[in-house]
Amino acid sequence: MELLKISSLYKTFKKHRVVAVDDVSFTIFKGEVLGLVGESGCGKTTLTKLILRLIDADKGSIFYKDKDLLKISHSDMRKTRKSLQIIFQDPYASLDPRMRIGKTIEEVYDIHKNVPEHERRNKTIELLETVGLGETYLNRLPSELSGGERQRAGIARALATDPEFIICDEPVSSLDISIQAQILNLLIDLQKRKNLTYLFISHDLGVIGSICDRVMVMQSGRFVEFGTCDTIFKNPQQEYTKSLLRSTF
Ligand SMILES: Nc1ncnc2c1ncn2[C@@H]1O[C@H](COP(=O)(O)OP(=O)(O)OP(=O)(O)O)[C@@H](O)[C@H]1O
Ligand SMILES: [Mg+2]
Repeated sequence: MELLKISSLYKTFKKHRVVAVDDVSFTIFKGEVLGLVGESGCGKTTLTKLILRLIDADKGSIFYKDKDLLKISHSDMRKTRKSLQIIFQDPYASLDPRMRIGKTIEEVYDIHKNVPEHERRNKTIELLETVGLGETYLNRLPSELSGGERQRAGIARALATDPEFIICDEPVSSLDISIQAQILNLLIDLQKRKNLTYLFISHDLGVIGSICDRVMVMQSGRFVEFGTCDTIFKNPQQEYTKSLLRSTF
């Protein structure tokens, strides 16, 4: 089943004349882990923001199931955001430094009204346990967590709406190499257990190859190569992909 279908999407930042997303089209199927790789500044995060409608596209369409996210009303978009979550690169920047972890997660229920008052605490503890933290973290501030623990808290918050689709925008890039594998394993485990769909963004082809079914290669706002990880790793067609592979392995 097609979950997300993007067609001829464009975004230009006019002030600086940057064409950040330039005629991008692709489809993600339910239950799939689709990789997006490309060097810094090629447009990956811009694409993410377009999908979540945090910024406006110039033209194109983004169908999530049968709805074009670029055309639906704000209230419809708010409902859709429940099933569409994001995990950011830098968990410290994405968590409010003054808010305790328990409250950070419960804030999500306030926005989406998806958990009744009396079930909130238990659901929060369950989420913390799911990501390998637990009840003792409820009252901690982000500054009282390690980098890996902060990213786990960010994942718990993304799970608080029971999403079916998660965009992981460089979720392990800011972490120590020894912690990267732990967080990747957690993400893979969650994906399998909950049959989640991921758009998984990384500039590291090694990471992409270890968890993705298919991969798209992006350069200067355009998709230059697309296929299964097997095919692209063994037989890259574009010089750009070859250079990414050389810098990884
Ligand atoms: N708000 C903005 N205004 C103007 N230009 C922007 C804006 N946001 C991004 N850009 C430009 O758009 C291009 C794509 O940026 P984007 O953040 O999407 O890159 P990225 O692929 O996510 O890079 P990284 O791997 O470093 O996160 C860059 O040239 C960037 O300078
Ligand atoms: Mg980015």
